[in-house]
Amino acid sequence: MRIAVVGSGYVGLIAAVCFAELGHAVICVDNDTEKVAALQAGQVPIFEERLPELLARHRGEGLQFSTDLHLAARQSEVIFIAVGTPQAANGEADLSYVEACAREITAELDEYKVVVEKSTVPVLTNQWIRRTLRFNGAIDENYDVVSNPEFLREGTAIEDFLYPDRIVVGADSERARAVLRRVYQPLIDGSYYSLPSCVPGPRDLTSGARYMETSARSAELIKHASNAFLALKISFINAVSNICELVGTDVQEVSAGIGADFRIGSRFLNAGIGYGGSCFPKDVRAFYKIAESVGYDFDLLQAVEEINEAQKLSFLKKVRAALWTLKGKRIGVLGLAFKGGTDDIRESPAISIVQSLLAEGCIVSAYDPAAMEKARQTMADHENLRFACDEFDAARGAHALLVVTEWPQFAGLDLQRLRQTMLYPVMIDGRNLFDLNQMASAGFHYYSMGRPVTEPKLAPRMDMEYK
Ligand code: UGA
Repeated sequence: MRIAVVGSGYVGLIAAVCFAELGHAVICVDNDTEKVAALQAGQVPIFEERLPELLARHRGEGLQFSTDLHLAARQSEVIFIAVGTPQAANGEADLSYVEACAREITAELDEYKVVVEKSTVPVLTNQWIRRTLRFNGAIDENYDVVSNPEFLREGTAIEDFLYPDRIVVGADSERARAVLRRVYQPLIDGSYYSLPSCVPGPRDLTSGARYMETSARSAELIKHASNAFLALKISFINAVSNICELVGTDVQEVSAGIGADFRIGSRFLNAGIGYGGSCFPKDVRAFYKIAESVGYDFDLLQAVEEINEAQKLSFLKKVRAALWTLKGKRIGVLGLAFKGGTDDIRESPAISIVQSLLAEGCIVSAYDPAAMEKARQTMADHENLRFACDEFDAARGAHALLVVTEWPQFAGLDLQRLRQTMLYPVMIDGRNLFDLNQMASAGFHYYSMGRPVTEPKLAPRMDMEYK
């Protein structure tokens, strides 16, 4: 099929590459000329596993990049809108890019095409896109508007797209449903998974991925409700972790016990410093706002946000409890990205913690395996902030080492070596990466989230001196 994808951000770029991987002819459009030139030249703008490989496979073949929205829309049977829907000042989603895109493509709807919302949008956006197309002169028979939300996670985006838990297509006409079935056919019938070149995935889907057809409004709600529910799950376990601390037990034992119930499930029950990223904080707020605008007070979501914010403060309190005074203390920080496996620092709790520490007069040495460049560009030059070359460099001479992003490689660090590098053997782990006994045996005063504080089993070194 001939497909246009408008927007080359996370969702747009991954969708475009994956549609090409499914055998379609794809034009990915963006109005950022520099970005399009870089993509045309083979540069990979985001840190994402398998993206370089798939871009190299399809660029210039099934996948073209362009700044010409009109040309792309004219040539395509299906137009996916995957432009940004950032948070407006009042917390609602700013849909002006979606509207502008709908306005612009109207002129190209001279024969039947399906316009698909792929961006995360509030319920009823579908209706507004239709109205925009009609007001700008499109003839009703020449288009349908479909909602096809995307559920990929950063870091595993390609795998999530090609091996989805479900594909949701919200369409109010059979004609549009038939077009979308053709788009996803290789995943629906499982034929993609039998190709020798197929990207390997986490499970066998040769009998076909789960495909769900709903109304457009339900599909829009499924996206917001899914993200809000996952955020709620995280805030729930974070609230439970606070109770664990108060009664002196371990949240990991509790979450394992809760998650063993299949109705609850064990995933997204890791207590920590709260969720971040470009999706959960924005989508929880936008869902609250759209609920309010249709007459429902979804105050449960306000509690989700409040608990999330409180986790960062609770972490900072632990740092204070561990170090007594903060001014002038040297702090090593492991992690800057909003989660492991990505270079994305948008709404990262790690960044907000670093900023709080700097504001308290700490001297911070930070390291992240992927997000250093983005952090350097974003964080204003601060005389007390240094970017380290690796984990041990970040820990060197530190009064405390903080873990604020769940990179798996941090969990495998040589703890003896780490401790010897530091000035004080103090670790405050906002992601619960380490085992309590292991930390005690390695000689750390170890603070984590929702678990007892651990004191070293070994006698502390008496030769504490600056390394
Ligand atoms: C999230 C959803 O998981 C995707 O399904 C969705 O498509 C995407 O938003 C989106 O709407 O575009 P993502 O933002 O990439 O994906 O990241 P997640 O893996 O969901 O993590 C979000 C945050 O929650 C991170 O800061 C992570 O550290 C935190 N988290 C996650 C926890 O604190 N505890 C957990 O148990 C899991």
